[in-house]
Amino acid sequence: MVSASVLSADMLNLEKEIKRIENSGIEMLHFDVMDGVFVNNITYGLPVLEQVRKSTDLILDVHLMITDPLKYVRRFAACGADYISFHTESESDISETIGAIKESGAKPAIAIKPATSAESVFDYLERLDMVLVMTVEPGFGGQSFIPETVEKVRIIRQKINELGLEVKVEVDGGINSDTAARTSAAGADVLVSGSYLFSAENMAEAAGKLRRTDI
Ligand code: DX5
Ligand code: ZN
Repeated sequence: MVSASVLSADMLNLEKEIKRIENSGIEMLHFDVMDGVFVNNITYGLPVLEQVRKSTDLILDVHLMITDPLKYVRRFAACGADYISFHTESESDISETIGAIKESGAKPAIAIKPATSAESVFDYLERLDMVLVMTVEPGFGGQSFIPETVEKVRIIRQKINELGLEVKVEVDGGINSDTAARTSAAGADVLVSGSYLFSAENMAEAAGKLRRTDI
């Protein structure tokens, strides 16, 4: 599955950009929330998500890069998030945050930065719908893929299979046709892509190139 990161979209024409995602046969919309503290950048938040929800039936994949996700997950769910990813490196209690997301009817996902071990998510897998493996340092679009992260995808996928669970593995950062193939081969099944998709002249064709190796 492909998740288009609107961080790279034309913000003054977001509705048109959402139509472009839909018309390209892309399944998910990736919505990056940054608070300027957890990462060195600030993006958009609840009111924008609420408007996005009104304008599309795409699966909304919210990626919280914020210091205290527990404080906000219920509100993101109320604004229409389908998946909510939060970072293990944040200050919120992981178990409690998963619980809050589930109670509010959204699907919980844990996100890990490149330096965080694959094993750190193992204890939570049974309660998750997805694990987000960051393949760049969170904060900005358009960065280069970090090759060492592929092994983490492999380790997490193997553990999920061993446990017989239905948890998705998502990769985010520097995903293009080449890195999509490498991460899919390692077991990723949700491919987030921002700059590669939005800079493509033909988004449907670019999405097809990402998917070519979908498992
Ligand atoms: C980075 C964000 C990504 C970003 C990916 O912190 O989490 O979702 O938009 O952008 P590209 O695909 O350009 O690396
Ligand atoms: Zn993201």
